[in-house]
Amino acid sequence: MSKRVLIIGASGGLGSALKTYYKNNGVTVYSVSRDPLLKDDLFFDVNQPIRHLMKFIHEKSPNVIINCAGIGYVGPFDEVDLNDHLMLMDTNIRFTLELSHQIIAEWKRLENRGTLVNITSISGDAPYPYYASYGASKAFISHLGKSLDPETKPYGIRILTTNCGPLKTNFIRKATEYRYMKTAPLALCPNKAATLIAKQIRRGKRATTIGWRAKLTSVAHRWLPDPITNHFVVKTMRARMGKKT
Ligand SMILES: NC(=O)c1ccc[n+]([C@@H]2O[C@H](COP(=O)([O-])OP(=O)(O)OC[C@H]3O[C@@H](n4cnc5c(N)ncnc54)[C@H](OP(=O)(O)O)[C@@H]3O)[C@@H](O)[C@H]2O)c1
Repeated sequence: MSKRVLIIGASGGLGSALKTYYKNNGVTVYSVSRDPLLKDDLFFDVNQPIRHLMKFIHEKSPNVIINCAGIGYVGPFDEVDLNDHLMLMDTNIRFTLELSHQIIAEWKRLENRGTLVNITSISGDAPYPYYASYGASKAFISHLGKSLDPETKPYGIRILTTNCGPLKTNFIRKATEYRYMKTAPLALCPNKAATLIAKQIRRGKRATTIGWRAKLTSVAHRWLPDPITNHFVVKTMRARMGKKT
């Protein structure tokens, strides 16, 4: 069966790297973004009604869908406007929930096999000060995917979860007003992340953490008590807060 991959949130960063990876490997790629200048992409804001996107999915019938759309806020919780936290919940949680619901129903109805990949973050693995709403949204996505996959696997429908650490994208620059928080040391190159995600999809691995820094953080979260990791994160973040842009 020929492979058709749909990437949501393809305007830059990881989504754009995945687009390049699959195109270079001769795969038919469809991409979705809210950048009107990207003429090859379906224009779609994930906060719009999903009908428009589902029509496109029905027509193109991709067998792999990778959802890279996401936003984050990093910094003191109360300094971010409540409407922005709510927008984050809509983009990261509501859209992922709605997409999963619609896709599973569509693939079951058509007896199609397919794989949906959602992107989570190490800040969703355990409590993560200064990333509270973002981490909580990623914990939701992780739990949703890991619960859905065993349920849908008997139908040939896979819901995979990729857990990322910092990536060299514009994400963190957009996520905080604090100048010294805008860089993430030892961040993973998005092209490398794209290769690792493609490998996860090939192997059908339910959940994986990519990049050694993310793996190390996940292990620390698993083995160290929360007060110790929280103390370390708070200390590092407070030291890096410095000036706003
Ligand atoms: N970068 C990191 O350190 C990191 C770490 C862990 C996990 N992640 C996750 O990895 C995924 C990709 O992030 P990235 O690093 O590649 O960051 P990015 O460059 O900011 O990419 C995020 C993508 O989501 C799109 N998007 C956001 N809100 C949208 C909306 N309402 N409608 C349509 N598209 C929307 C953005 O489009 P616009 O260009 O139009 O805003 C962009 O294409 C995200 O889920 C993020 O949470 C990132």
